[in-house]
This record gives sequence, structure tokens and C-alpha cells, in this order.
Amino acid sequence: MDPNAPLPLQRRKFLMTLLAGLGALIGAASAWPVFRFLSPATAGSGSDQVLIPRGDVASGKAHFFQHRGKPAVLLQVAPGQFVAMSAVCTHLGCVVAWQETAGEFLCPCHGGRFSAEGQVLSGPPPKPLESIAVELDGDQLRVG
Ligand code: FES
Repeated sequence: MDPNAPLPLQRRKFLMTLLAGLGALIGAASAWPVFRFLSPATAGSGSDQVLIPRGDVASGKAHFFQHRGKPAVLLQVAPGQFVAMSAVCTHLGCVVAWQETAGEFLCPCHGGRFSAEGQVLSGPPPKPLESIAVELDGDQLRVG
């Protein structure tokens, strides 16, 4: 018998520790995609506040931009009165289009209609477009 050979009990303990470590590694590797899927988007996916020159938003016109990495729209509903909201339809997530002559948003996917303030007028959308804060800061509109 080899005097340097580990005792069977030590070998068993070593193998159990190795298997436990390997199991933990496989478990962590399997859980990571699930964790990433379930975690909310971080602030790094888009800036919180967006500055838009006031002159870019004419009365009655819509100005589309990106807010937190998603489509959003800024509108001058009356002279000097601005509203901002998500441009993502609350039904199944299509991007709404501004209908200038009708003064409302139309979703191209299933015909959902929203008022200039984002309220549901007709169609399948279950709730209004998500509102975004907007304030005038000199010649800039601070959105978000
Ligand atoms: S996704 Fe807009 S109405 Fe269906």
C-alpha cells in the first residue's frame, strides 16, 4: 500500500466538495438568464431627462423622441401648453402615429385611438398612454 495515498474517507470528502461546487456553479449559470429576464430595466438603458428645443415642437405637431430607450412623443396641444407621453400603445406595444388633421393618435396595429392627451378614445387599448412630466426651462423643454 502506498503510504502517500489519501485515506478513502478523505477522497470521498474531496469528491463531495468538488461535486457540491460544480452543482453550485451549474445552478448559478442556469439561474442567471432567468434573473436577467425578471429584473427591471436599469436607468442605463436610456437617459431619464431629455432636453428638446421649444422651437422643435410647433403647435398641433407631434415631436417623437426616445425616452429611457423607448419611443415617446411631445405635443404642443395649445400655444405654450405641452404634454409628453409614451408613444407605445398600451394594447400590444405598437408605436402610435399622430394624425394631425384629426388631432389624435392612431395605433396602426389594431386601430386603437388616443386623444392628444393620451386618453383612450376607441379600440382595444386598456388604458391611456403613459404620461411623462414636461416643463419649460428657458427655450428648452425638459421631459422626464
Ligand atoms: S397594439 Fe395598439 S391597438 Fe393593438
